[in-house]
Order: sequence, then structure tokens, then C-alpha cells
Amino acid sequence: MSFLPNIVGFACQWCTYAGADLAGNLRAKYPPSIKLIKVPCSGRVEPEHVMEALANGADGVLVGGCHFGDCHYKTGNYKTANRMKILKQLLEDSGFDSRRFRLEWISGAEGYRFAEVVEEFTKELQELGPNPLKGGNGHGK
Ligand code: FES
Repeated sequence: MSFLPNIVGFACQWCTYAGADLAGNLRAKYPPSIKLIKVPCSGRVEPEHVMEALANGADGVLVGGCHFGDCHYKTGNYKTANRMKILKQLLEDSGFDSRRFRLEWISGAEGYRFAEVVEEFTKELQELGPNPLKGGNGHGK
């Protein structure tokens, strides 16, 4: 009955991507629902990237970055936090359920946390069901 959502994860190489690596090394269990895209900093993820992934049928998008104070580029994640707040609003305004998008701060030492986030997000997306834009031509309904 429940489907396996496909999640696109933009992961900052210094923190969240390293956290995912650690999750693998720790053999922390999480569903095989996420495909990670390594980015130099979460601040490099534009709202358009998230919108595009959703428009192309991703059931959910995760942006993962360093905790405040840990960003390699000092303020990258503050920029991310501001931008993504606006993005959430944009999604809501365009009739999209903003729960399909998540922003999480996960450090390279938080392998188990990475696994937990993926598991929790997967469950939430299973409750929401498939992305309504899925199955189209990637340009809307
Ligand atoms: Fe990780 Fe900026 S380097 S969020």
C-alpha cells in the first residue's frame, strides 16, 4: 500500500554529505529513498533547484547543511535559512504542499541523525502520497 518515495537530497559536502557517509559506515538503517547531490555549501542551493526537482516529479526534496556557526563559508547556511523560508511560502502560494520540502542541519558527526531524518521524511511522504506532478511531462499537471 505505501510506496517508496523518491527524495532528492542536496547535501553540503562538509556536513550533511559527510553525515550520510558516516551513516553508511555505522550501518545505520534508513530507507533507500534518497539520492544525494553533493554541493559545496547549502548556500549554493537555489530555490529554483528545489522547484525544478519537484516539478520533475521528486516526491520530496531535502536540503542539508552545517549547523549555524559551522558553515565553511561562514554565512552560507544563514543565507540558506532565509531563502528556504521564502521558498516554503512560494510552494504554499503555488498550491504545493510545503511538507515535501525539508531543510535540516546535519553535521558530519551525525550519521544516526541523518538516517533518522531520512526515515522520518520518507514516512511523511508516504502519508502525503506521490507527488501530484509525477507522471506528467515534468512541466506541470
Ligand atoms: Fe555546509 Fe555552508 S559549508 S552549509
